[in-house]
Amino acid sequence: MKNRPKTTVILAMTADGKIADFQRNTARFGSNIDKNHLEKQISMMDAVIFGAETLRAYGTTLTVNNPQLLAHRKQHNKPSQPINIIVSASGKIADNLRFFSQPVPHWLMTTEEGAKNNTLKFEKILTFPTIETGKINLSEAFEHLKEIGINHIGILGGGELVASCLEQNLIDDLWLTICPYILGGKAAPTPVEGFGFLSSEAKKLQLLNLEQKEQEIFLHYKVL
Ligand SMILES: NC(=O)c1ccc[n+]([C@@H]2O[C@H](COP(=O)([O-])OP(=O)(O)OC[C@H]3O[C@@H](n4cnc5c(N)ncnc54)[C@H](OP(=O)(O)O)[C@@H]3O)[C@@H](O)[C@H]2O)c1
Repeated sequence: MKNRPKTTVILAMTADGKIADFQRNTARFGSNIDKNHLEKQISMMDAVIFGAETLRAYGTTLTVNNPQLLAHRKQHNKPSQPINIIVSASGKIADNLRFFSQPVPHWLMTTEEGAKNNTLKFEKILTFPTIETGKINLSEAFEHLKEIGINHIGILGGGELVASCLEQNLIDDLWLTICPYILGGKAAPTPVEGFGFLSSEAKKLQLLNLEQKEQEIFLHYKVL
């Protein structure tokens, strides 16, 4: 058993593999079925984490609202909402986002430098050292999360954060919804940004499940 929480990525992309348009606007192409799927996944988590650009794009988070999912969390002695952790090396998060008035625990994962920049709006600020790329050492960060009792985290994007996690071999499984749209654009983000991997070093996946619901396809992969 690895000394870190189980990690599940949940993302929706267009048929041409984009997670947002070239202006990086909020992704609104998922159906209500996909939104319910995301809410269900989130409801299984102790914490969800997302990159600062995702928070800057949406300004909000998805909360668990479905009464059955809330009851299920209660039965399992979980608080009604998972902890929402924003990952940001810079720590520069505007404090007027609607996110801060949503009823979830707001945590920031940043660097010593980033912590100096930050707002008092986060209930908890966790600081970690960086690796060569200037990114947070997520292995160390995830080990800390495990130590404080966080056993399963949902990684909600965007592509930069997912790339960082994959580079550090920190992803166990991946849900991808393929939505019936094409956005195109070389500047439009994809599920995995970063430098990329050479084909000889591609991350390998095992398909665990595939389901069509109306016009969308729900893929569940294990990262090998
Ligand atoms: N379709 C979907 O399911 C979906 C889901 C999520 C997001 N999106 C879209 O994706 C876009 C955002 O994705 P993105 O790839 O541009 O950005 P992102 O991954 O959301 O955020 C990138 C930022 O997060 C911080 N960060 C990420 N990894 C880090 C690490 N290891 N250490 C320290 N900081 C780290 C940095 O913040 P600082 O710059 O503050 O240092 C970095 O600039 C938006 O357009 C959003 O709408 C789509």
